[in-house]
Amino acid sequence: MPGIDKNSGPSAVQTAEQIGLQRYADRSLTEQIRTGMAQAIAEGRLPAGSRVPSCRDLAVALGVARGTVRAAYDMLVDSQLLVARGAAGTWVSAVLPAAHAIPQKGPVLAPLADVVHAFDVVPMTFQMGAPASDAFPAKVWSRILARHVREIAGGATGYADPRGSLALRQELVSYLSLARGIRCQASQVIITNGYTGALGIICLALGLHGSRAWSEDPGYLLARRALNLAGIEAIPVPVDEQGISVADGIRLADDARVALITPGQQSPLGVTLSLARRGELLAWARRQDSWIIEDDYLGELQLQGRAAPALAALDAERVLHIGTFSKTLSPALRMGYLVVPDALAGHFAETVALLAPASSSVLHNAVAEFLHEGHYMRHLRRMKRLYAARLSELLQALEPHFTQLSRAALAVIIPLPQGTRDVQIAKAALAYGLAPSPLSVWYQDKTAYCGLVLGVTNLPEGGFAESAARLKALVEEFG
Ligand SMILES: Cc1ncc(COP(=O)(O)O)c(C=O)c1O
Repeated sequence: MPGIDKNSGPSAVQTAEQIGLQRYADRSLTEQIRTGMAQAIAEGRLPAGSRVPSCRDLAVALGVARGTVRAAYDMLVDSQLLVARGAAGTWVSAVLPAAHAIPQKGPVLAPLADVVHAFDVVPMTFQMGAPASDAFPAKVWSRILARHVREIAGGATGYADPRGSLALRQELVSYLSLARGIRCQASQVIITNGYTGALGIICLALGLHGSRAWSEDPGYLLARRALNLAGIEAIPVPVDEQGISVADGIRLADDARVALITPGQQSPLGVTLSLARRGELLAWARRQDSWIIEDDYLGELQLQGRAAPALAALDAERVLHIGTFSKTLSPALRMGYLVVPDALAGHFAETVALLAPASSSVLHNAVAEFLHEGHYMRHLRRMKRLYAARLSELLQALEPHFTQLSRAALAVIIPLPQGTRDVQIAKAALAYGLAPSPLSVWYQDKTAYCGLVLGVTNLPEGGFAESAARLKALVEEFG
């Protein structure tokens, strides 16, 4: 190949050593690979014109997903340090760009790199929180979406309602009444950028900075972190087989201004908040004039029996209800909704209008039609059937290897003896395309419980058997 030295450069293992990846550092793995290679090129450790390892080989050597390495290679190709030659492989540029040095300023770092292994990648086996990639109703959705894109292209150019499209808010009023037992009006509904967007709006509108909040223990790590970032002290409140322990909440922080909970299917244990606890929680909120934020992230996606009604169905005055399309349709839509008590509707409307308006209504209107035409309910029914089948398939695959297994909403928990290095197991599993979540990180006290939480939504080609055996081998290795 003209201009290219046939020297194949350092091996994948040597290259991996030069990059020196640090897991759970505050820079993403992709960014670490990119800067590590750029530095190795600048310092001549990866010689100009030499071939670099394939994405697959380097990924195995580093113990990361192939897509992580590919993303770093793409950036290095963009900055002309590498040249991609298709089947002939990837090479260090024969003629390096003039600066021939590490760029002084790297690109903006990926957020949450210590807990989210990568954004913009296809979900891995066992990954929590991502719906089935192979079951998205792509055909009907693209037909509907295309129509709404055409409509907006030729339509009015005025400002849209900052609470989101009225069509979708009205559809949600009907849907929530039927599926979640919530009685509300469209004026109480705000379309948000998912659950996360709704939580941000609530912190802003209720002026929660400087206050205390109950947060479930174990609980959704990102929610706890979000509260702390918003200047709210997250008080961990234990969860038992009935859901959050209200008595403990009162003992630990009676003066909390909010309780942030997942009553439908607790995250990650999957328990439904009992009726008695619902009563205690609402009584506390009324007595203290506090708010309950209901994270209904799995909404109707209850695999066993009928989904319990939402907490907001019991008390529309004290509960702020959040739903998301991230679990039912796709996280790529980045869409959810917030239902606020009637008395707060005006204040929330003003808050979003001035500080956090809803995104473009094109997607809202397409989702509204998807609901209106009955596709959404049909899709949910299909997903429940599919996930129930995948859950039993996963249990069958795990049973020969693990004696104790518990179901937890759309996941299976494998409890492991205290002291097992579950974080290490989860990290090592990434190299095999598996993304179990270590149970310990969901707890405030990271040494209290160990285990692996396995999402059931995405089935690997050929079934779960091989992945289950691989997990067993990893547990033995790090046990
Ligand atoms: C407990 C919990 N709540 C909410 C969400 C959804 O967040 P979003 O709508 O921002 O995607 C998730 C996603 O994993 C979750 O685990």
